[in-house]
Amino acid sequence: MALVTTTEMFKKAYDGGYAIGAFNVNNMEIVQGITEAAGELNSPVILQVSKGARNYANHTYLVKLVEAAVKENPDIPMALHLDHGDSFEVCKSCIDGGFTSVMIDCSSMPFEDNVRITKQVVDYAHDHGVVVEAELGTLAGVEDEVCVEAGKESYTHPDEVEEFVTRTGCDSLAIAIGTSHGAYKFKASQCTRNEEGILVPPPLRFDVLEECIKRIPGFPIVLHGSSSVPQEFVKIVNQYGGNMPDAIGIPEAELRHAAELAVCKINIDSDIRLAMTATIRKYMAEHPDHFDPRQYLKPARQAVKDMVAHKIQNVLGSAGKA
Ligand code: G3H
Ligand code: 13P
Ligand code: ZN
Repeated sequence: MALVTTTEMFKKAYDGGYAIGAFNVNNMEIVQGITEAAGELNSPVILQVSKGARNYANHTYLVKLVEAAVKENPDIPMALHLDHGDSFEVCKSCIDGGFTSVMIDCSSMPFEDNVRITKQVVDYAHDHGVVVEAELGTLAGVEDEVCVEAGKESYTHPDEVEEFVTRTGCDSLAIAIGTSHGAYKFKASQCTRNEEGILVPPPLRFDVLEECIKRIPGFPIVLHGSSSVPQEFVKIVNQYGGNMPDAIGIPEAELRHAAELAVCKINIDSDIRLAMTATIRKYMAEHPDHFDPRQYLKPARQAVKDMVAHKIQNVLGSAGKA
């Protein structure tokens, strides 16, 4: 199977009450870990590339790595998606360069500018058989160069979604309901603490999600910033020389619930970073004499695979849906 768009994936996910994982890829080990897990679990998957990833690894290398993964996993529907495209030009370059899906993220701009640029991308993308994700509302956290402080984010206004989707013709819509980017999703002041002193985050705004669904029934919704920052990995990082105090993510049960509703795409990057970093830190500490990168990248790749398998089975519900 060649790379596919997300149209069919989202239709089946919407109807089936599950979501497709969109995992960020930056190098070979990450591409392999994700796609080996998806392949073994017979799950559709989205591999997404940020502007930062294109700067780090180079567009051509990333596309070729994904093409190799498609060849190795011929039975799995896979989409190659641009994450947080910030201009028509960057979207066009990915559409021309082999991507099957792009995100145009003008969510920090005024509504009319967001509509105008999104529509420009949609017109070009649809002419080339590519689908478009857009965004309304702003998440807290860091994405590429844009940083929004926790507490300064703004939830999506349900009143705007129908007009936005109709006027732009976008294929899916990312909304802000309290998720955020990175491994520090909430300030301690926004949380409570459990008996072990671990931060407990405020719940996602399912009321906002449900209002959005009412305005655009049947339309695929996307959640960014959906890492759960598993505390067992934070512990390993901190045990082996790292320093990630009060790292906190979105509880898996809330993401599972969102997937049962209209959320068809769930974005996960930080958890992959955390799994790799925890594994490499532990490996390095336990094998101070090793210096062949394959020695520590092999368990790191396995950690990516295990993390993605866990998401597919316990959070997304996409196992067996290829
Ligand atoms: O939304 C942001 C993603 O986690 C990508 O992060 O821009 O550091 O590659 P990045
Ligand atoms: P996390 O930082 O929660 O993994 O979110 C990733 C993301 O939204 C990529 O677009
Ligand atoms: Zn994002």
